[in-house]
Amino acid sequence: MRTPLIAGNWKMFKTVAETVAFVTDLRDLVKATASVDVVVAPPFTAVHAAANAARQTKIGVAAQDLYWEKEGAFTGEVSPAMVKEAGAAYAIVGHSERRRLFGESDAIVNRKALAAIGAGLTPIVCIGETLEERERGEMLAVLDRQIKDGLDQLSADQVGALVVAYEPVWAIGTGRTATSAQAGEAHAHIRKRLRQWFGGDAADRCRILYGGSVKPDNIRELIAEEDVDGALVGGASLDVRSFADLVTRSGRPAV
Ligand code: 13P
Repeated sequence: MRTPLIAGNWKMFKTVAETVAFVTDLRDLVKATASVDVVVAPPFTAVHAAANAARQTKIGVAAQDLYWEKEGAFTGEVSPAMVKEAGAAYAIVGHSERRRLFGESDAIVNRKALAAIGAGLTPIVCIGETLEERERGEMLAVLDRQIKDGLDQLSADQVGALVVAYEPVWAIGTGRTATSAQAGEAHAHIRKRLRQWFGGDAADRCRILYGGSVKPDNIRELIAEEDVDGALVGGASLDVRSFADLVTRSGRPAV
């Protein structure tokens, strides 16, 4: 049984003060919901403050990215150990905005995933096709390449412990959510490949999140799909009430 995970990717939104206020409110709003893991991914500058505000709660903190080197002359970059020490337990790698705007290849995603694991972080590895790729009928081939190259050299154990986020690029920030059938099809394919390449145990344990215009009014339908284990949420994660609604609708009341 996989515990559902609702993760908020704030992208380049929220100051330290806004982060602390959000996490403080979120703690109360999600207290009564059991059996859902909750993660927020603030900008680097607010990771430490988020982790402090989330201390002794079930809210986890993710970095939105990291660099694979341990330290060195890499102006502007942040190492896995640095985000871990700041209090992050997770790191998003390979988000489509990083791939598209900052030229990240599957090889880079792979180095980042390996480096995150090496520092004791859980990677949230993002994959997903563009609209053009889908329309050309290349969706499954794109996912295969992103999984194979992005998770290259990872052990079955490591794959079982990480999180994959399927985020079709055409559904991100567009208000155009994949239907639950489209999400279900992609997720089933991803899990089939994980089973083939990393074995049954890894495939059964690995959580696969859906991302792309997830809102409180479509989460139930998406998460009802067998292979959808939660969501990676952008826009709807910025408002604490809507984010808390997503969590509540993915779990059950605490007893
Ligand atoms: P939206 O929820 O705003 O579509 O963003 C999804 C996303 O990119 C999460 O990483």
